[in-house]
Parts: sequence; C-alpha cells; structure tokens
Amino acid sequence: MKFQILTSAPESATADCLVLGIAAGKLTPGARRLDKICGGRIKEIIHRGDFKGKIGESHYLYDMHGIKSRRLLLLGCGKHDKRNEKNWQRILTTAFAALNQGASKSAIFCLGDIKIKGRKADWMLQDASRILANAAYRRGELKSSQKKLAKPLATVKFSVAESGASAARRALLRGKAVGEGMMLARRLGDLPANVCTPRYLANQARQLSRKSAALSVKVLNEAQMKKLGMGALLSVSAGSDEPARLIVLEYRGGKKSEKPVALVGKGVTFDSGGISIKPGAAMDEMKYDMCGAASVLGTFSALLTMKLPINVVGVIPATENMPNGRATKPGDIVTSMSGKTIEVLNTDAEGRLILCDALTYAQKYKPDAIIDIATLTGAVIVALGHHTNGLLGNNDALIDELLTASKASQDASWQLPMGEDYQRQLDSNFADIANIGGRSAGTITAACFLSRFTEDSNWAHLDIAGTAWTSGGKDKGATGRPVPLLSQFLINRCA
Ligand code: BES
Ligand code: MN
Ligand code: ZN
Repeated sequence: MKFQILTSAPESATADCLVLGIAAGKLTPGARRLDKICGGRIKEIIHRGDFKGKIGESHYLYDMHGIKSRRLLLLGCGKHDKRNEKNWQRILTTAFAALNQGASKSAIFCLGDIKIKGRKADWMLQDASRILANAAYRRGELKSSQKKLAKPLATVKFSVAESGASAARRALLRGKAVGEGMMLARRLGDLPANVCTPRYLANQARQLSRKSAALSVKVLNEAQMKKLGMGALLSVSAGSDEPARLIVLEYRGGKKSEKPVALVGKGVTFDSGGISIKPGAAMDEMKYDMCGAASVLGTFSALLTMKLPINVVGVIPATENMPNGRATKPGDIVTSMSGKTIEVLNTDAEGRLILCDALTYAQKYKPDAIIDIATLTGAVIVALGHHTNGLLGNNDALIDELLTASKASQDASWQLPMGEDYQRQLDSNFADIANIGGRSAGTITAACFLSRFTEDSNWAHLDIAGTAWTSGGKDKGATGRPVPLLSQFLINRCA
C-alpha cells in the first residue's frame, strides 16, 4: 500500500473515494466546510437519521457536487470524549473494509480534525497507516483458490496542512513500515511447520538482506553451532530430521562505533514437546512457536523501510522440537555455549535451551541492550491472558523504555518480578541449573533461567505466548505482535 500526503484542497483532488471523518453529535470544521461545498447534503443525511457518525458506521454517497472523487465515504468517528486508541483502530478498519467492498483502489482520507485526547497528529497518522497496511494481510495463501479482491485498496492519501507536511510524511512511512513488518510476521506465523522450517526462516532473512546494503545475514548450520559449543540448542534439534539453523542479521544504520541493540527471537518451527510430548489438543498451534523469530524478521523489515540510523543485531535460533531415537531424554545433562551445564528435566521447556545459546552468542556483539522475544510459557497466558505481553529483565531503565514504547504502539506489556527466591527453583542436584522450576511462577522461572546467561548485559525478555496468535475459531491466526512494540522501541532510540 502506498501512503502519500495531500496538502491541496481534498475536494479538488481525484481518487476513487474521498473518506470524510464524521464526529458524532457535531460536525468538525473540516466536515462543515465539505458539507457547504456539496450543498448541505451531509447535514441533511445526518438530520434524516441515515447516518449518525457512530464508530463502526460508514455510508457511501456518489457523484457529489463540488467533489471531484466519484465516491464520498462518510466514516463514523464517534463522540470526541469517547474516542480512544482502541476505537481509532476500529474506525480505520471500518474504512478499510468499506473501501475494499466499494472497489476503491485509491482514497483520500480527511481525518485531520478527528482527535484523541493526549495524542498528537503524528501519532494518529502513524497509527492509521500501520493499521491500514496491516489490514491488507490476507490469510490462507495455501488455499488452492484464495479469493482475491478485484480492486484492493492500493493508494491512500492523507489530507494534511502544509505546515505539518514533512512530519506527516515521516509518520506515514513509519506506520507503513510497522504494518508491513506485522504482515510479514503474521504470514510466517500462519505458515504450517512443513513449509516454515528453520531453513525457510533462514531464506526469509536472506531475502530481507537483498533489499538493503545496510543488512547482512549469515546462517550457521549444526556443524558450525557444534564448533561453538551450542550444546543446549543442539539438544533440542537432536530429535528432528529437519536441521537447525542459527540466523544472524546485522543491520548497520548507525555510527560504526555505536553499540547495537540485539534482538533474539525464539524460532521453534514446531514444538511437539519432544520426549516430554504434549497432549494432542490444539497441538497444531505449536507451529506458532516461531513467532518470536517472526517478530524479529518483521522488525528488521520495518527497519529497512524506515532506514533508521541505528545498529541492530538479530539472532534467531531456529529448530523443531521432535521426539525420535536420538532425541534428548528427561534427565539428560547438556553443556551450553557459556559452559554452564543444564539438566533437561522436561524436553518441552525447549525455548530456554535454544535461547540461552543464542543469548551467549549475541553477547559477542557487546550490545547496549539485548531483548529476547519468545512464545516461552503457557503460564504467561494464565497470568496475563491474551492481551498483554509478559515483560521481565535485569535493568529498570530498559524495562521503562520498553513500557513507554509499548504504550505508544498499542502493544500492551506488563512487568513481572524476578529475584533470588525464584532463582532457587532452578537448583539441580546434578548440573549447574535445571531447565524447569516447578509448577509455580512458570513465566518467572523461565526468565530466571535466561537471566543466568545474560548476567553482564542489559537484558529484557518478552513472553509473547499469549499475544502472538489468536487461538481456534474464525479469528485463528498470527497477530504480528510485538512488531509494533519493538519497532517503536527502536524509533524512540533514534530520537
Ligand atoms: N512453546 C511452549 C509454550 C506455549 C505453550 C506457548 C502453550 C503457547 C501455548 C513452550 O515451549 C513450553 O512448552 N513451555 C512449557 C514449559 C514447562 C514444561 C515448564 C509450558 O509452558 O507448559
Ligand atoms: Mn515446549
Ligand atoms: Zn516451545
């Protein structure tokens, strides 16, 4: 989707549709102006009760006098004091659906005087283009006859004042970048595990690197990982015929001397549980166990589009977790790249085993901050449900940065505690550390495990097991989270 700004009079520009935001109760100055141009028709329609301006409501008018675009879409924006970040999304997806139904390939949005308390115009625009770009994602690419839209919305212009033009352009580009990054993450998440393998993810990363000289990608195979001593990661891939990969992305947008941010994403392309095999119900959803990896790739995609002046390293340990005769057994003790030994009491706690080696590897870059993103524990769903990412870490400033980005990007996160008392749950009689910490506080003990491998770095961990995809039912599918949070975090770091 193309996003542009329009600083000339919207009624004199031509598009397939002009979209006019209508606040419930009272017309805004912009709407009143257009109403006058088309001879009071908008007011008339509202007075007759055909359109109220409620959120979720839209109404087409055609061939209006004084408006060059053939269609005029009245878009309900609700009452000013009831408008918020959540229903802003609903306003835009309503417009998106109506435009696609009405076969408009191009549209001009006049939403300039639709406001949300506490949000600046640039925020509104960035969020709008993010929502529209992401809304263009269509599930079901493997259906043999995927229904294609005849005339999908392709070009969107936002009507803005000349004075705000350059800031608006930047906001639109950022939103588009994030929305498209979410789309990539969703597509990869939704692909089945027999297509989206570790090697497939590696090829996706290579494909990204072809788009920009600032991004280089290297992919390590199992022999190379063995040489590095990644015994924890390899203990997870041991039971699989599909080979593991360590995918490393290096984006250099900042100064050479500037320390990078490291993003480490769990890439388990299918988690059967291994020998500690999972029960069968909804096991298909364990194809989503690579959504951390997908969010890293989605964020790199956004970085390339925005060309942010920052250095970022991505590390993606990618593997299946399967049971076979060579699979790791409960009780096996493996040696991680850090040298620490791990007693694998449950082979289904595999995410932390691949992440610990990836975290050790990431520290080679002397990063200023390491953030890992993982569908790590079912326990985070018990704690926070499906709306909020679990956030843990060893540095308050980094946590605050992530919480700030979280609020700005509509990608909710909540900090959970850590500490000595929880760490003790990981004690092992036979190795340096056990890979599970008992029934209680599963999300916290998982983070405690990771923290043993990041001691010298500023580190934060996002548990996205509840937020990365929607389960079951008609809405089943990947969400693209937390691409908005990670992208906003990087944007804020550049300011
Ligand atoms: N990938 C799962 C976590 C998960 C479970 C995500 C359900 C989404 C829905 C992870 O590898 C796992 O199996 N974790 C175990 C850890 C336990 C064995 C300590 C879990 O949460 O049950
Ligand atoms: Mn597991
Ligand atoms: Zn898993």
